[in-house]
Amino acid sequence: MILKILKWSVIVLVSLIIILVVTVALRQNLKFDAPLVDVKASTDSTIIAKGEYIFYGPGHCMECHCSYEDYKKVELGERVAPKGGFTYPLPIGVIRIPNITSDKETGIGNISDAIIARALRHGVAPDGHAMIDFMAFHNTSDEDLTAIILT
Ligand code: HEC
Repeated sequence: MILKILKWSVIVLVSLIIILVVTVALRQNLKFDAPLVDVKASTDSTIIAKGEYIFYGPGHCMECHCSYEDYKKVELGERVAPKGGFTYPLPIGVIRIPNITSDKETGIGNISDAIIARALRHGVAPDGHAMIDFMAFHNTSDEDLTAIILT
């Protein structure tokens, strides 16, 4: 009796693991098509200052998006460029922090404001993959998104 229960428990467990592995393998490269967010960076100096304040202050953007070499400066409160570069090898995969400077090659200078805003609001990366939900900005207002995108 006990052996029978044990046997079936193992069969059920192994089946569940196989289903999980197959589901993850099939779904991991899905692309998503969330609505674009209709905001555009402003040139107003008050809005730029507000965006920088959120970016370097309560938004905590630099706590993740800073580079290895700038880490100490960020701790001292310096406003350095969000060059990214940290990598976190976790069992679920490697998390890489992207460069979000306005550089057209290494940063996000070639990505439209609406796509950047979509990344923050809906968690869909510029290339359409679902981003790991590290950025808790889904409820940020259009006004604040407009400000943040400037920096
Ligand atoms: C807790 C860490 C963390 C914080 C805080 C954070 N980010 Fe991110 N950000 C990430 C990670 C990780 C990714 C990449 C996710 C992925 O591609 O799966 C990312 C991706 C992005 C992207 C997409 C860039 C690209 O090329 O794919 C933008 C834009 C962005 N972050 C802006 C911001 C802004 C603006 C803030 C602050 C308001 C911020 N992030 C705060 C971790 C963070």
